[in-house]
Amino acid sequence: MRSGVKGQNWLVFALALVLVLAVSAIFLAVSGLDEGNIEAALRMSAYLAFIVLALIFLLRPLVELRPNRAMRTLLKNRRLLGVAFAGIHTAHLLLISLRDYFDAGFDLFLVERLPGAGVYAMIYLMFITSFEGPARALGPRRWRALHKAGLYVVFTGFLVALIPPALAKPASAHGLLSGLAAIAVLLRMAAYLRRHPRIRAKAGRATRQAPRGLLQSNWRDNRRSRS
Ligand code: HEM
Repeated sequence: MRSGVKGQNWLVFALALVLVLAVSAIFLAVSGLDEGNIEAALRMSAYLAFIVLALIFLLRPLVELRPNRAMRTLLKNRRLLGVAFAGIHTAHLLLISLRDYFDAGFDLFLVERLPGAGVYAMIYLMFITSFEGPARALGPRRWRALHKAGLYVVFTGFLVALIPPALAKPASAHGLLSGLAAIAVLLRMAAYLRRHPRIRAKAGRATRQAPRGLLQSNWRDNRRSRS
């Protein structure tokens, strides 16, 4: 929950935002300002945001499973990666407004956009609470709960956008990014099991003892007895 040097958050946020907007502007200037190209810029910003998010998601398990100095340094600076993510996804939001302005067939204010708007609300809540004052007002326990829940909400938002096209066409950017998401989830699970040896032992015993087909109900019972 450290908030670092004063002004650092705004600097990293602005750098990420301006960089993505500048690359998008050059791309649109070269290839033409039309709906198709704005959509391509939107995709590029979303893919970059997801790569940064996946790194944030992966850092702690990587440090736990394969500790090394570079990963530890990145983990220490995870807050800045989060702030950079917020900057990149703000560029996505501005490109959405551009698309809304240029494309008469695109309506921003639709009910089906509400989940996306909810994810944005979560991103900005996390961003605001990356600053010292709001973080202190929230307190360490609530801060951790908010940022952990937020990480999963935003990650899930990406999965919803990436997995259906990846299933339709696995050999694509969607397939590649969904693969990255699967690796991130597996590594988090592996680190969790390493941190909780009793759960790992229980899972190992259940796998050895239960006949095939009963595994799922055993797992459910275990969960019930724990909750
Ligand atoms: C109301 C808010 C949002 C709107 C209106 C919106 C709109 C768009 C549009 C127009 C595209 C271009 C390509 C396409 O239509 O698939 C796009 C791409 C994308 N957006 Fe957003 N977006 C929103 C929020 C979000 C959020 C919160 C996330 C992630 C948590 C996200 C992730 C993505 C991804 C991954 C792509 C690339 C999809 C692909 O390549 O098929 N978007 N978005």
